[in-house]
Amino acid sequence: MGEAGGEIRAAQFVRSWPPASPLRFPFSENIMYEQLININKRPFPFSIYTADTLWTDPHISQQMLKTHLDQNTDLASRRLSFIEASVSWLQRRFNIGPGTRLADFGCGPGLYTTRLAQLGATVTGVDFSANSLAYAKETAVAQNLPIHYIHTNYLEFQSDQRFDLITLIYCDFCALSPAQRQTLLGIFREHLADGGAIVLDVHSLVEYDKFEEGVSYGRNQSGNFWTDEDYFSFTNQFKYEAERVTLDKYSIFTPTRSFAVYNWLQHFDQASLTAEFIASGLTITDWYANVAGEPFEPQSPTIAVVAQPT
Ligand SMILES: C[S@@+](CC[C@H](N)C(=O)[O-])C[C@H]1O[C@@H](n2cnc3c(N)ncnc32)[C@H](O)[C@@H]1O
Repeated sequence: MGEAGGEIRAAQFVRSWPPASPLRFPFSENIMYEQLININKRPFPFSIYTADTLWTDPHISQQMLKTHLDQNTDLASRRLSFIEASVSWLQRRFNIGPGTRLADFGCGPGLYTTRLAQLGATVTGVDFSANSLAYAKETAVAQNLPIHYIHTNYLEFQSDQRFDLITLIYCDFCALSPAQRQTLLGIFREHLADGGAIVLDVHSLVEYDKFEEGVSYGRNQSGNFWTDEDYFSFTNQFKYEAERVTLDKYSIFTPTRSFAVYNWLQHFDQASLTAEFIASGLTITDWYANVAGEPFEPQSPTIAVVAQPT
């Protein structure tokens, strides 16, 4: 279109600006409205799986690694003081030492695997974050620890190895859908050696009760956490009463792309956790408040269990 076309477009713009009502914009009003509807939509529990975006996107996984190692926050890994108490309890509870075959699923940067290998155990770490595994491997090389790291989605884990102890630490179980949880428990059961045990922790209903629905938005409100471009982020918190599920939904808009991350969390009581283990041919033999072995207590924000094949 030549100059005349430009004039026509300019004239249309002048006629439509200022908008007739403060809520009406001259361009794209439907697109904006549809985006806002999508942002605020309450999805069906666990209908969208984006854990891989959170943990494996090259930029976000760098931020997650920093968060794992940050001693001022418990957001990705718990602080080292807890991890040390936890490893010490695991050692006493399972008599870990040379000869113990151990697999840590969702091992992240190896904060547990490193310490467990220092006890002389034969340790395998499984994670799908290449970035966290690179850090874990560097640590193992620096400390001359023969840890076997496997880069895979643990929902597809297959191995001929059998383990005396399988761990899934920091409530990763809660981020999975009911079907994924059954898959993972099946994988654990299949890879246990005779007499082997599983240890995992989950969020309790105490955490569920504390969770509040909300909506917020900001520009780069979390620094450059989601991308290194400029961005707007919308955060929606949803609570699903019947399912005892919570969702933190992040909708991110940059000048070049948009994406969403869904952080689902299933919350458990003893009955619901027992039912899931029974359905996978597993029996919970011991209950604790956390994976540092503190006694089970109904008001604890987490529940940790030891389970064995039924
Ligand atoms: C909350 S972090 C906990 C890390 C570690 N267990 C700890 O306590 O320090 C969860 C870890 O699980 C990994 N993860 C999550 N889903 C996974 C999957 N489907 N397959 C493999 N790794 C996964 C993430 O990459 C991340 O390293």
